[in-house]
Amino acid sequence: MQTIRILLRNSKPMHKAVVGCSKTATSSVFKDNAIRRSCSLFTVSRKNREIATPKNVTSFNICRQIGATKISPSAVQEQPKFLQLSNINPNFVEMEYAVRGPLVVRAGEIEEEMKHGAIKPFDYVIRANIGDCQAMGQKPNTFLRQLLNLTFCPDLLDCAEYPDDVKDRAEEILEACQGGSVGSYTDSAGLEVVRRQVANYIERRDCINCDWRNVYLTDGATSGIKRILSLLNCEVNGKKPGVMVPIPQYPLYSATIAEYGMEKIGYYLEEETGWSLNPQELNRAINESSKNSVPRVIVVINPGNPTGQVLTRNNIEEIIKFAYNNKLLIMADEVYQPNIYDKKSQFFSFKKVMHDLGHPYNGMELVSFMSASKGFLGECGVRGGYYEIINVCPDVKAMLWKSITASLCSTTAGQVAISALVNPPDESEPSYEQYVNERDDVLASLKARAEIMYEIFSKFEGVHVKPIQGAMYVFPKIEIPPKAAAAAKAKNMPGDTFYAAELLENTGVCIVPGSGFGQKPFTSHFRSTILPQIPLLKEMMNSAVSNGNSDYNSICDSNRPNRPNGRRNTNRNSNSNNCSRVAVSNSNHDNSSGSSSSNSGGRNINRTRGSSHGTSSTP
Ligand SMILES: Cc1ncc(COP(=O)(O)O)c(C=O)c1O
Repeated sequence: MQTIRILLRNSKPMHKAVVGCSKTATSSVFKDNAIRRSCSLFTVSRKNREIATPKNVTSFNICRQIGATKISPSAVQEQPKFLQLSNINPNFVEMEYAVRGPLVVRAGEIEEEMKHGAIKPFDYVIRANIGDCQAMGQKPNTFLRQLLNLTFCPDLLDCAEYPDDVKDRAEEILEACQGGSVGSYTDSAGLEVVRRQVANYIERRDCINCDWRNVYLTDGATSGIKRILSLLNCEVNGKKPGVMVPIPQYPLYSATIAEYGMEKIGYYLEEETGWSLNPQELNRAINESSKNSVPRVIVVINPGNPTGQVLTRNNIEEIIKFAYNNKLLIMADEVYQPNIYDKKSQFFSFKKVMHDLGHPYNGMELVSFMSASKGFLGECGVRGGYYEIINVCPDVKAMLWKSITASLCSTTAGQVAISALVNPPDESEPSYEQYVNERDDVLASLKARAEIMYEIFSKFEGVHVKPIQGAMYVFPKIEIPPKAAAAAKAKNMPGDTFYAAELLENTGVCIVPGSGFGQKPFTSHFRSTILPQIPLLKEMMNSAVSNGNSDYNSICDSNRPNRPNGRRNTNRNSNSNNCSRVAVSNSNHDNSSGSSSSNSGGRNINRTRGSSHGTSSTP
């Protein structure tokens, strides 16, 4: 009990917070701790426990342990439902998506509890679990938003405040739309004008030809990834189709593979060498898999999520050769291509490297994915994406086309966002300067955040972190001491889930346990995004380091971010410097301290943190 009190008041290091709890786990401490409190809030009915299938039992237990399964009494009394877990697609029961898993549900519950006056050792929850840039305060890109404004509200085309280059682009898009309106369906693969813009972008990037007819616009990268996996979902010689995915991986892949009943063939990234890809490991993985499945495709995420590595050109060449030797389609998930922070790293597209390798590799089948959700735009909710598919046999493309037509088209908002991504203003145009400033600010800030996180985590006892070369995440390895491991076991949780649950309850920081992404046996990790804006990030890390940590102070200056008008958990110990996570305003420029407003298309956005729902007020 004493340990917990100290931990709550003095905000011991993030790692120590967890370990500190666990050190006393064998005593009566856990009877009193935060997790136990939350468990007692929500009891799960026996009936609902029974419908958990054996396969699902682990995650169900975790939900229950951290209080995520909230069953209202009235739900239990409702009449029997025709649809039950036993008679729906079992693949839906099987699949898991850690990024929005039970801990995130618990984070939402904590916010609700705080709204109703619950006292916590923090002021608000920091959602470092998901790569949702604008949810964490990134300012929308003005050029993109103006293009959206003009295409969705063409009356504004007469408005003098909008620059001519944006107007020209909006008119071009509107002319391409049926009825001159973005409210009409587009061609199934998207507006030709935008597909041509994408092709030009790829040509500029790679200095090789791109046929716009190979470009398909999608609702974010996700829908394209799912469609291509679905296309490959065909048994061969009575065996399941196998999908090679990195471990750790972005769980969209494992979730979709499970949903489609395909076979996951995991290949481990090598943590020791900064999460590089060892071709020998690819061979090991494929050899071990062939008993149950026929490998059809290799997925490569570059830059990596959750690991933040950028593959070297040499590594990419090795992967291409491996794929060729094993007759695999390459799915290159390149959504983080603008997010490179390490000076020595460079992004090479698979298409470019395949091309440069020459025959026979330049004729290999490849699909490459891109998104408006990442990079410096961070328009996750707008759902813009595309993929380029090359060297695929025309008959197969015809079937892909047929499948796309059955979905009508992707959202026009997403298509406009992609247009803004691939067709930015050039030097001669009026929007250029602002566009470049905003782009560079976001990327510089992400780089700074990547460095801060790396440096601070490097100093944590029991935490091992690799430099963040790209993307938006850090994936440190954590040591779970024996007592913590025992406490986790007693709760039927993996060690990393226990760690993350403790962290959430004690500091309000919501991260994702490494098991959600896959990791080598007997290792534990967690993933945090680098997305909280710098003042908030400092607060987050401040929650995680001990009092007077000089190393930390030298990295993060002593400027405390201002607290906005938002709710504050008044009962907490206000003397505790380190524990005191005060809310911060959204900032245009991350290294500005204090509150700020951002101007987007004439609107003022002043945002406070504090709740998953009400984080923004938009006058
Ligand atoms: C590697 C990777 N691929 C694809 C996606 C999905 O992106 P979108 O929002 O475009 O669907 C994400 C999202 O985080 C991702 O990290």
